[in-house]
Amino acid sequence: MYGTLRYGMVGGGQGAFIGEAHRKAINLDGKARIVAGCFSRSYENTLATGAALGIEPERLYKRFDEMAKAEAARDDGIDFVVVVTPNNTHYPVCKAFLEAGIHVACDKPLAISREQACELEALAKEKDLLFMVTYTYMGYVTAKHVREIIRAGEIGKIRTVIAEYPQGWLAREGDWGGKQGSWRCDPSQSGKSNCLADLGTHVENAIATMTGLKVKRVLAKMDIMVPGRVLDDNDFVLVEYEGGATGMYWTSQVAIGHDNDLRVRIYGDRGAIFWSQEDPEKVIIAKEDGAPLVEHHKGYCSIAPEAAKYGRLPKGHPEGWLEAMANLYRSFIECIHAKRNGSFTSDMIDFPTVSDGVQGVKFVEACLQSSANGNVWVDL
Ligand SMILES: NC(=O)c1ccc[n+]([C@@H]2O[C@H](COP(=O)([O-])OP(=O)(O)OC[C@H]3O[C@@H](n4cnc5c(N)ncnc54)[C@H](O)[C@@H]3O)[C@@H](O)[C@H]2O)c1
Repeated sequence: MYGTLRYGMVGGGQGAFIGEAHRKAINLDGKARIVAGCFSRSYENTLATGAALGIEPERLYKRFDEMAKAEAARDDGIDFVVVVTPNNTHYPVCKAFLEAGIHVACDKPLAISREQACELEALAKEKDLLFMVTYTYMGYVTAKHVREIIRAGEIGKIRTVIAEYPQGWLAREGDWGGKQGSWRCDPSQSGKSNCLADLGTHVENAIATMTGLKVKRVLAKMDIMVPGRVLDDNDFVLVEYEGGATGMYWTSQVAIGHDNDLRVRIYGDRGAIFWSQEDPEKVIIAKEDGAPLVEHHKGYCSIAPEAAKYGRLPKGHPEGWLEAMANLYRSFIECIHAKRNGSFTSDMIDFPTVSDGVQGVKFVEACLQSSANGNVWVDL
């Protein structure tokens, strides 16, 4: 049905974390192959990474802007670019590829300011290009199932939400988490927030995607727990959504004992849903006090068809984070094909878009303002 798409990557050089995960996830379906890259600020690293991936040397670039122009000019140029660099570079890199007419998949947070994020959203719209922001966790079959059963009214009207994403990897003084930790703690690369931009955007997106709730205003306490840091490493946020529901979020990098412990508890007037990304084969549903909890497991017919179609393995064969990432790319790549053959409609999009990315950046900025002004309510 489809030909194979060509893609390029900015970031993801040898020694980097998430770029390789994107490549592995895309490879799961074999619907796109990597043909170009500017993998690192170090050209030697780009050359070594490209050689290991079997990319032609002429398509290994010193600079991302050079890559955008050169790839746009080729008959066999890339169909989309994957941007997996530190946060401060997302805006210039994405902008260069959008201006060159190339679809973009960028990791979160979309940008380091509301202005940058909104400009990218407007540019993608003006150029009629697809723009995915890879909030990986929303690719899980069970995360999509939560969205579907909430849409179907399973737990009624949502009253309140508790969501958290604690990690413990930056808990110790002088422990900067290697390359990945040091740029996150550096405002020149991370932006005005570390922990909330890194983890809070996942929380904000998870709740927005699953519930459809839109944050109206926030009250945040963003703290620096580890001496010597200049950016937040532990954050509490009270949330009020449009329509009156409320929420409470916690993100931390100093919570010893936690790895990637994104958990959500969603309470409606007819039931509640509990979901945990480290245990993503199941969704737990409570219907009333004292009644047994119901578990919906991936692979069984209790999973909504709109979510179940993303399952790659039969019941009892666990699927994880790479598959979740691959599911985002499945929809993104299908949409690129549909754009090409004229069959695209916006309801085909089943991945987080640039507009979701903008919401994340607005959420972080409002929290920063709230925290700086003595923990006051700030509208988004
Ligand atoms: N979706 C997720 O769950 C998830 C998980 C981890 C990281 N991330 C995001 O992915 C991004 C990258 O994080 P990471 O942990 O992989 O960082 P990393 O430090 O491991 O890798 C960053 C890479 O970008 C390269 N780079 C930096 N500036 C560049 C430039 N101007 N041109 C070309 N390459 C450049 C570096 O050389 C390195 O190879 C961040 O925005 C982060 O928030 C998302």
